[in-house]
Amino acid sequence: MRPSSSATDGPGAPLYEAIGSGYHRVRRADPRIERRLHAALGAAVRVLNVGAGAGSYEPTDRFVVALEPSSTMMRQRASGAAPTVQGVAERLPFPAGAFDGALALLTVHHWHDVAAGLRELRRVTSGPIVVFTFDKAVHDAQWLVTDYLPAIAAMDADHPAAAVIAEALGGGTVEVLPVPHDCMDGFGHAWWRRPEAYLDPTVRAGISSIARLPSAMVADAMARLADDLSSGAWHRAHGELLARDEIDAGFRIVIAG
Ligand SMILES: C[S@@+](CC[C@H](N)C(=O)[O-])C[C@H]1O[C@@H](n2cnc3c(N)ncnc32)[C@H](O)[C@@H]1O
Repeated sequence: MRPSSSATDGPGAPLYEAIGSGYHRVRRADPRIERRLHAALGAAVRVLNVGAGAGSYEPTDRFVVALEPSSTMMRQRASGAAPTVQGVAERLPFPAGAFDGALALLTVHHWHDVAAGLRELRRVTSGPIVVFTFDKAVHDAQWLVTDYLPAIAAMDADHPAAAVIAEALGGGTVEVLPVPHDCMDGFGHAWWRRPEAYLDPTVRAGISSIARLPSAMVADAMARLADDLSSGAWHRAHGELLARDEIDAGFRIVIAG
C-alpha cells in the first residue's frame, strides 16, 4: 500500500523536515535489535508504529499502521510499506483499543508532550506497547558526548527515564539493549567502536542529536576527533573499546503489557 497523509504537519514535524532527508540511508534496521523488538510485541496482529519515520523495524508479518508528522520522513518510506497517517502521538486519530500492539521507536524524546503521547498510546492499544528509548545519564557518559560534543548532554533534559515511561503506560519491564560493535542501524552511539564514521556528514545526518547542533560546533568537534584519530590520542583514551563486542550505551526497551 502506498503511504498517504490525512493531516497537515503536526508540531513534531519541523525538526525532521529540516534534518530528515537522507535519513533512510543510515537508519537501517539491525536484525539483532529487530528480533528483540518484534518478540516484545508478542502475539499482537494490529500494530501502530508511532513516530514511524522511514519505517525501520516495522513488522511485515502483521497489519501495521504508521503514524508520522513529517512529510520528509513519510516520503522516505519504501513503496509497499505500511499505510501512513500524518499526525502526532499527542493526538492519535484512532478509537480506543484500535490496536493490540504498538511501537514507539527512538521517537519519544522528540514529542512535545510525552505524558499526553503515552496516554494516547495506552488508549488506542489493548496489548503490548514497545518503546525503544534511552537512559540519558548512560547515553551522555559515552565518549562522543564527553570528549567531543558535550552540548548533546544539555538536550532533552526532561527526557523521562525508561521506568517512568513504563509507569505512565500502566506498568511494564525495562530491558537493556546493548549496541553491537557492527550495529547496522546508524543511530547516535551506533558507531562507538568505529569512531572515524562520525567524520562522515552522511552518518551525522542520520543522528538527530548531532544534526540539531550548530554546524560550526560540529565542525570544530569533528576536526578535533580527526586530529585525535591521527595522533593516536583517541586510541590512548578509548582503545580498550576496540576489544569489546557490545556496550551498554544507554538504550532501553520498555515493554508495557
Ligand atoms: C529518530 S526518528 C525515529 C524514526 C523511526 N521510529 C526509527 O526508529 O527509525 C524520530 C521520529 O519521530 C517523529 N516525531 C517527532 N515528533 C513526534 C510526535 N510528536 N509524534 C509522533 N512522532 C514524532 C519524527 O518526525 C521522526 O520521524
